[in-house]
Amino acid sequence: MNDARPVERHSVRGFKPDALDDATLDAIFGAAQRAASWCNIQPWRVWLTSPPRTAALSAAMLEAAKTGLPHAELAFPLDYPPPYQEHRRACGHALYGAMGIGRDDKSRRYDAWLRNYAFFDAPHLAVVACDRRLMPYALIDVGVWLGYLFAAAANVGVDTCAMASVAAYPEVLRAHLGIPDDLAILFGIALGHEDPAVPANATRTSRAPIESNVTRT
Ligand SMILES: Cc1cc2nc3c(=O)[nH]c(=O)nc-3n(C[C@H](O)[C@H](O)[C@H](O)COP(=O)(O)O)c2cc1C
Repeated sequence: MNDARPVERHSVRGFKPDALDDATLDAIFGAAQRAASWCNIQPWRVWLTSPPRTAALSAAMLEAAKTGLPHAELAFPLDYPPPYQEHRRACGHALYGAMGIGRDDKSRRYDAWLRNYAFFDAPHLAVVACDRRLMPYALIDVGVWLGYLFAAAANVGVDTCAMASVAAYPEVLRAHLGIPDDLAILFGIALGHEDPAVPANATRTSRAPIESNVTRT
């Protein structure tokens, strides 16, 4: 049998403050740069923050999250029919269970949601955008790039969390990072090293069996 092991990784939602060095960031983003894309158009556009800029951006994002309604440019799904709804519930159960937050504890759930806008204390945030003229097809390419980035980070012992939540306040990201209007802001990625003391980091998610997703004919 050939060796096709998945990359050992999980989303990390509590980071140590230490910045990654340039060589490590170059290794990760250099590997992701090798991602395949349709006609090799390489449509991912990325703004990467480091300390102290990450904290300044986080302060502005927290303010926006506390005072305004989310309005992502790439609309989040409103409804999750079966079987997606069950997967989503299980994901929430794993996360809030790890944090010891009950289903009806609105106050602690709100605080947990706000942690997205602290970027889970990560030293780095990558904000990922894509030219609106290439939509929707180029989103496939950006997804391929994200998979490469996850794998590259894991390979050098760097932890990550993709964050669609960050894209919910695009005007703050544009003002701080100078992202032009012709790009749609898609998601953020927190990068750094896991703080094992953070309860949310005990979260583990499962996957459905192959047959749920793959039809052999
Ligand atoms: C595009 C994308 C956006 C995501 N957005 C968020 C987010 O806003 N907040 C969060 O805590 N996790 C976010 N996640 C993490 C997912 O919840 C996580 O990948 C999923 O539950 C599977 O768990 P695992 O990454 O630990 O394997 C996102 C993941 C992806 C791929």
